[in-house]
Amino acid sequence: MASPLRFDGRVVLVTGAGGGLGRAYALAFAERGALVIVNDLGGDFKGVGKGSSAADKVVAEIRRKGGKAVANYDSVEAGEKLVKTALDTFGRIDVVVNNAGILRDRSFSRISDEDWDIIHRVHLRGSFQVTRAAWDHMKKQNYGRILMTSSASGIYGNFGQANYGAAKLGILGLCNTLAIEGRKNNIHCNTIAPSAGSRMTETVLPEDLVEALKPEYVAPLVLWLCHESCEENGGLFEVGAGWIGKLRWERTLGAIVRKRNQPMTPEAVRDNWEKICDFSNASKPQTIQESTSGIVEVLHKVDSEGISPNRTSHAAPAATSGFVGAVGHKLPSFSSSYTELQSIMYALGVGASVKNPKDLKFVYEGSADFSCLPTFGVIVAQKSMMNGGLAEVPGLSFNFAKALHGEQYLELYKPLPRSGELKCEAVIADILDKGSGVVIVMDVHSYSGKELICYNQFSVFVVGSGGFGGKRTSEKLKAAVAVPNRPPDAVLRDATSLNQAALYRLSGDWNPLHIDPDFASVAGFEKPILHGLCTFGFSARHVLQQFADNDVSRFKAIKVRFAKPVYPGQTLQTEMWKEGNRIHFQTKVQETGDIVISNAYVDLVPASGVSTQTPSEGGELQSALVFGEIGRRLKSVGHEVVKKANAVFEWHITKGGTVAAKWTIDLKRGSGEVYQGPAKGSADVTIIISDEDFMEVVLGKLDPQKAFFSGRLKARGNIMLSQKLQMILKDYAKL
Ligand code: NAI
Repeated sequence: MASPLRFDGRVVLVTGAGGGLGRAYALAFAERGALVIVNDLGGDFKGVGKGSSAADKVVAEIRRKGGKAVANYDSVEAGEKLVKTALDTFGRIDVVVNNAGILRDRSFSRISDEDWDIIHRVHLRGSFQVTRAAWDHMKKQNYGRILMTSSASGIYGNFGQANYGAAKLGILGLCNTLAIEGRKNNIHCNTIAPSAGSRMTETVLPEDLVEALKPEYVAPLVLWLCHESCEENGGLFEVGAGWIGKLRWERTLGAIVRKRNQPMTPEAVRDNWEKICDFSNASKPQTIQESTSGIVEVLHKVDSEGISPNRTSHAAPAATSGFVGAVGHKLPSFSSSYTELQSIMYALGVGASVKNPKDLKFVYEGSADFSCLPTFGVIVAQKSMMNGGLAEVPGLSFNFAKALHGEQYLELYKPLPRSGELKCEAVIADILDKGSGVVIVMDVHSYSGKELICYNQFSVFVVGSGGFGGKRTSEKLKAAVAVPNRPPDAVLRDATSLNQAALYRLSGDWNPLHIDPDFASVAGFEKPILHGLCTFGFSARHVLQQFADNDVSRFKAIKVRFAKPVYPGQTLQTEMWKEGNRIHFQTKVQETGDIVISNAYVDLVPASGVSTQTPSEGGELQSALVFGEIGRRLKSVGHEVVKKANAVFEWHITKGGTVAAKWTIDLKRGSGEVYQGPAKGSADVTIIISDEDFMEVVLGKLDPQKAFFSGRLKARGNIMLSQKLQMILKDYAKL
């Protein structure tokens, strides 16, 4: 058997310990080595009178048995005095058992103010006063155990006990919050609802039951909950006669009784009543986050119903003017410079690790192919979201404390340089009225010199402030896309470390929500949460690893929707579906199964070279074969051609009006190179042509100049170079 539970050296204060349950607790603690403060006011069970004998008797009993105890005769309403006795006598306070209590039973209509108040003063206020007096001492010593005493009368209600039931359930509310606030200081708080024979119950229970329900059958649970080895915190237990059970809340799946843009009516509530009250498949929320995240989902569901062409009739058009004015507002431009150090720090922050040899190029600047992770593109732009930039936009008078990072889109036009300085231009692209809130869509373009490197779109959801009659959707918003309805093609997992957020924040998101437990609990979280963009970085890395062999030049764009918070230490599981060059994905927390990133995708540039192409990766483009062939032939005559051309040509091959593939013919470096994807450095000329027209040109059926003038071939950059290319291709007909 494991060692017995001892309390040697622990200082335990039991209130109302002069009789009944409190006495049994005090004796049991003392027997196991605790130094006990036996508190009791010594009045009758209605709270009338006072005296020292009740406490003295129990102290004498403890001492007789060789234990250590001291009496205190104050009312729990003077909590400081009780704790002072503990500190003066034993120098510390480790455990508080809030047990003192009285009754003033009356049917509701007969409860006097005095009956109401005294019950609240002794039970609820008394528990508050005593606990508050001990709290800071416990915090300082980073240890404490608190027990609260509730009652079945509070949990279920009981005739004649409205005052008592209300105070007793108030105590449970107090405990729920203390459990959250105390957790980080190893202060645990639990509640019991006992059943025992005592002077309090002898008026309501038959005599033999009073005898049978011994307080000694409750005490062991109290001792366990107050032991340093017990991890239970915030629990509620019913206990009596040797039986112990735990309680929790249960919630029906419920029903949404409101439709977008329509008033919510009592009739809709009536008509859904059965569903609202149906406990089949009920959930058991344990935290306020679990409870309120359901509410946010409801808002989302109502909002995402079919779009109504009409604005709500009650919307005040005048209210839109501020928001409309904000659309198109440019934030002051800023620059983001970074070195290899920042890029490495970011890679570590999103889980790149030397344990995976293919990650070395993200974390070691000496690697031959050292690369900046594509999602570092959000870091260069994130300053636009920091320092209250949005709040300073005229017309945006929101409460930004209620802002949530809703969605993120990032597109790269070329791989990020390994270090550099990017100039960023941010603009409010649009503002959407989602009824329950407002979505601010902000576009940020980042340039190296004049060259556009990447484009970010941040979507920020501000809870409340909606219903101003604005538009619900925007063609400017990059849409999130549902994942396919089949099992994923690949799943990758990575455990985040407890320090993940601490590490990730070094990349510039200093929000204390991700590191400071006090701040996190004020924001309603159990502990600091991981940055959404950190999870985003993990997931993008998974996609790149699984489908692009960590080749950053194949990363084109990413879109995600943030669905739920992640706590550092949890395991991220990215589920991926390949559909051509688009990799759909969603990210779950493995431990809970919760989807934390939903409706997401990464667009990849097709793999370079004909040989690596599969039909679904764009192999259906005929031009791919030609580029592959040019690449092969270049190997023999490349040097010569490079001398003549000295230029980089980027090709955008379109299919059905959209760019289906990008190719680069580099005739500037070495002996030339042909590869799929945008130019690695900058292109001198970019040629845009459909796959069909490209083939016509190659087969000599279409004159490129005519194609240019008729608009079938477009060229950007140094157009004269395209003529040079034409000549060269003729000269080297074998190309
Ligand atoms: P009890 O009446 O035997 O013990 C309560 C003790 O608290 C008494 O010794 C009394 O002098 C002391 N007390 C009263 N007011 C005080 C004050 N202002 N300051 C300091 N001490 C004060 O009753 P019992 O049954 O032992 O109850 C203990 C706790 O358990 C109470 O909080 C009661 O509400 C609760 N409870 C008991 C149940 C039972 O079946 N016995 C059922 C549900 C709850």
